[in-house]
Amino acid sequence: MTAVTVPAPTAAPAPADRTAPVVTVRDLRVDYGDQTVLDGVDLDLHAGETVALLGASGSGKSTLMKSLTGFAPVAGGTVHVAGHDVSALRTREQRQLRAEVGQVFQQFNLIPRLSVLTNVLAGGLHRAGPINLIGGFTGEQRKLAMHYLDRVGIAHKAKDQARSLSGGQQQRVAIARALMQQPRIVLADEPVASLDPKLADSVLELLRGIAAEYRIPVLVSLHVLPLALRHSDRIVGLRQGRMLISAPTPELDTEQLLPLYEHEEHRDDAHVA
Ligand SMILES: Nc1ncnc2c1ncn2[C@@H]1O[C@H](COP(=O)(O)OP(=O)(O)OP(=O)(O)O)[C@@H](O)[C@H]1O
Ligand SMILES: [Mg+2]
Repeated sequence: MTAVTVPAPTAAPAPADRTAPVVTVRDLRVDYGDQTVLDGVDLDLHAGETVALLGASGSGKSTLMKSLTGFAPVAGGTVHVAGHDVSALRTREQRQLRAEVGQVFQQFNLIPRLSVLTNVLAGGLHRAGPINLIGGFTGEQRKLAMHYLDRVGIAHKAKDQARSLSGGQQQRVAIARALMQQPRIVLADEPVASLDPKLADSVLELLRGIAAEYRIPVLVSLHVLPLALRHSDRIVGLRQGRMLISAPTPELDTEQLLPLYEHEEHRDDAHVA
C-alpha cells in the first residue's frame, strides 16, 4: 500500500501519563423528567485504556455515553471531555467535540448503498466540513481512509457496497470510519451485540488494539461478562444509575460482577457463559 502520513491523535498524553485523563466525570446526575437516570457518577478515562461499561438494561450505560457528547440532560455535576466542559458548550464547540468523539454502534449505522471507502471517508467530514461535499475527497483523504481500512483488516472490500458485507465486516468499517475522525476518544455502545461470539472477540480485540496504538481511551458497553473480562483494562459497572464497580479488570471475576444485575427486573441480561 502507498505510504501515507497518518496524523497523530491531537495532544494525547504520553503513554506513562496517568495524571491527565481525557475524560473526567464528577458527581454526574442526569434526569429524564421526574426520573433520575444517573446519580453521583464519577468516571476517569485515560489515554490508551479500554474500559468496559457494564450494567443491566436501563442502568444508564447509553445515557452515560450520551452525556460525554452533550446529548443527555445533565442535571448536576461536571463532564469534561478532551478539554471541553461539556455542560457549558456553545453550538460551535459542541460540533467540535462531536467531531473529536468517534462512535461505534450496535447496528453499525453505515450508509448501505455507498461503498465501504465512501463510508469511511464520511467519517472525516466531521472535521473537514461540508466544503468537501462540493470538492470531492482529496487523494490524501482517500489514502488515509485506505490506511484505516487496512488497519481494521478490510481494505480488500473498499469498493464494495457497505450492505454487501457481513455484520463483523460492517463493524470493522464503522471502526475505520471512527478512526477517520482522528478521535480523542472512542465510544462503542454494545458494538458486538449483533455479532456471533467469535466475531465479538475479534472486534473487541481490534478496539482494544486501537486504544493502545492510537493512545486514546475506548469506552465499550457490553452485556456479556466474559467478553468484558477478556477484553478490557478496567471495568465500570452501573446499577440503577449509580456506579457500583470501578476496578482494574485483572482484579475482578464473574462473581464480583453479578451484583450489578441483582434487584433489577432484567436479571437475564447478565450472560455469564
Ligand atoms: N430519551 C429518553 N427519554 C426518557 N427516558 C430515557 C431516555 N433515554 C433513556 N431513558 C431512560 O433512562 C434509563 C437508562 O437508559 P439507558 O438507555 O441509558 O440504559 P442502558 O443501560 O443503556 O440500557 P440497555 O442495556 O437496554 O441499552 C432507562 O430507564 C430509560 O428508560
Ligand atoms: Mg444502552
